[in-house]
Amino acid sequence: MTEETPTAPSLLAVLERHRVVVCVGSGGVGKTTTAAALALYASLSGKNVLCLTIDPAKRLANSLGLDAMTSDEQLVAPELFTAAGLKPHGSLRAMMLDTKRTFDELVARYASSRERAERILNNRLYQYISTSLAGTQEYMAMEKLNEVRQSKAYDLIVLDTPPTTNALDFLDAPEKLVNAIDSPAMRWFMQAFSGAGKLGFGIVGRGAGMVMRGLAKFTGGEFLDSVAHFVSDINELFGGFTDRARAVENALRSSDVAFVLVTSPDPLAVREAAFFATKLAGHGMRQAATVINRVTPLLSEPHGTQQEVHAALLSRVPRGLNEALLEEKLWQALDDERLRAVTDRGEVERLHALTKNRGLYVEVPALEEDVHDLASLSRVAEYLMGSRT
Ligand SMILES: Nc1ncnc2c1ncn2[C@@H]1O[C@H](COP(=O)(O)OP(=O)(O)OP(=O)(O)O)[C@@H](O)[C@H]1O
Ligand SMILES: [Mg+2]
Repeated sequence: MTEETPTAPSLLAVLERHRVVVCVGSGGVGKTTTAAALALYASLSGKNVLCLTIDPAKRLANSLGLDAMTSDEQLVAPELFTAAGLKPHGSLRAMMLDTKRTFDELVARYASSRERAERILNNRLYQYISTSLAGTQEYMAMEKLNEVRQSKAYDLIVLDTPPTTNALDFLDAPEKLVNAIDSPAMRWFMQAFSGAGKLGFGIVGRGAGMVMRGLAKFTGGEFLDSVAHFVSDINELFGGFTDRARAVENALRSSDVAFVLVTSPDPLAVREAAFFATKLAGHGMRQAATVINRVTPLLSEPHGTQQEVHAALLSRVPRGLNEALLEEKLWQALDDERLRAVTDRGEVERLHALTKNRGLYVEVPALEEDVHDLASLSRVAEYLMGSRT
């Protein structure tokens, strides 16, 4: 019997079979890096790609040529590819999500008149909701995705997702936001103020009037005015807010959308990733792959010759040490590295067990340096595509 060379797990098929790829996972695990690397690879191989990033590290944004002042789609210039020794057969556009701006655009598009839109945009409460309310960023990422999805210009859209302290927030956030805006409390406010015009409490029901007067004592009438205006305006605007959120969520279940769950081998991240996998399944969303990023490679694995490993370790030891101490530190670093590699391997196996070895698992090693330019992104992409192990 001839043994076939095992092919390394690859995300190639995920890119081939889907039009939208969403990178999800807990904070700091490498979602933005994975999203950018996937987008880069697809553009190199001939697709017209949009990478919708959220809050990318400044150096990464710079090396993609993203101007911090704009959140429009920007073509990654061919010179940047050439400088990194790369040649795109397609095109790569990148865009940073600006939550407030997306929300503002939504208001401008759906308000019944320009005056109403202006009034909402200038409302203090709106300014809070559009910038600080938990869930807004996640919801707006979904809105933006839905918008760019309509565009025929892209063969592939890769969506990065916001950092959440808990990975589960991401899927629940849109619903929470809708509930906050479309809650019984908000509806109560609405009724209390409906037809109030200049907000005289006399017109509202007696019970509500008393509560309002009580609230005004604590919060100041101006704040209540703000709430009242906002609630009545936003109610008109987002009459169908719940429906919109549902439509967006349904769109994420369509067969051309794939979720790529990103995690690190950190025990906490692994636990969250396992929960997240269950959550995705519960929402009926397609988890196409799990990327385990920043895995410390076992030194016995062919990630460089012993000499290269030695040199790499040497570079981490403080300079100016005498030779005897240097040797000691070097072996200590080697031991630390081995220990981390063994621990990481254990965590990777735990993740497989927790997620019942379902689907595709791709590992990306911890690179020596941060991933902040096209050249290092393309290195990450090689691991993601299984062309480097
Ligand atoms: N395989 C890797 N090797 C070395 N550095 C990496 C690797 N992957 C990511 N990094 C670095 O780790 C940092 C965090 O990565 P990234 O910004 O992609 O995480 P994130 O999940 O998007 O974080 P956040 O949740 O804050 O948005 C970045 O500085 C990035 O360059
Ligand atoms: Mg990020």
